[in-house]
Amino acid sequence: MTLRQAQVDRDTERMLRVDQAGEFGATRIYAGQLAVMGTQGAAARAIAHMAAQEEAHRVRFDALLAERRVRPTLLQPLWSAAGFALGAATALLGPEAAMACTAAVEEEIDKHYTAQLDALGTKDPELSQTIGEFRTEERTHHATAIAAGAERAPAYPLLSGAIRLGCRLAIRLSERV
Ligand SMILES: [Fe+2]
Ligand SMILES: [Fe+2]
Repeated sequence: MTLRQAQVDRDTERMLRVDQAGEFGATRIYAGQLAVMGTQGAAARAIAHMAAQEEAHRVRFDALLAERRVRPTLLQPLWSAAGFALGAATALLGPEAAMACTAAVEEEIDKHYTAQLDALGTKDPELSQTIGEFRTEERTHHATAIAAGAERAPAYPLLSGAIRLGCRLAIRLSERV
């Protein structure tokens, strides 16, 4: 591989950094939820399944960062704590609030991945394929959460709005820091 090929342009570097951060954050949210909910019950089983998929997404982005020599976000410790806290807090409100969290996060992630795919065009087929595959699973997570009663969570519009705002902020920060 030539030096030129080994270098990743700045836009792609930001994409990889923020995507790895997001997938890591997702694993932490679900870890927080499962710590509260345990492993029994339909909601916990659905969450455990989604958590396993997020773990696979994170592993894939970890590998892409390593291959392309992109450093992870410096905010990883923050996302670790904030993700876990968000997961635990929503689970404490109940299974529907836990699902509302997933629905809110996935709504933002779908938009985020779609914007990345548009920006990438045809320049990086490997990355586009990865993002496209993951977006399909994120959309399934969103549908699972809605089907499990996310919209029946207490104060759903407020809860959802706050989480989506937090996601957008986390995305902007992780691209840059
Ligand atoms: Fe994911
Ligand atoms: Fe997801």
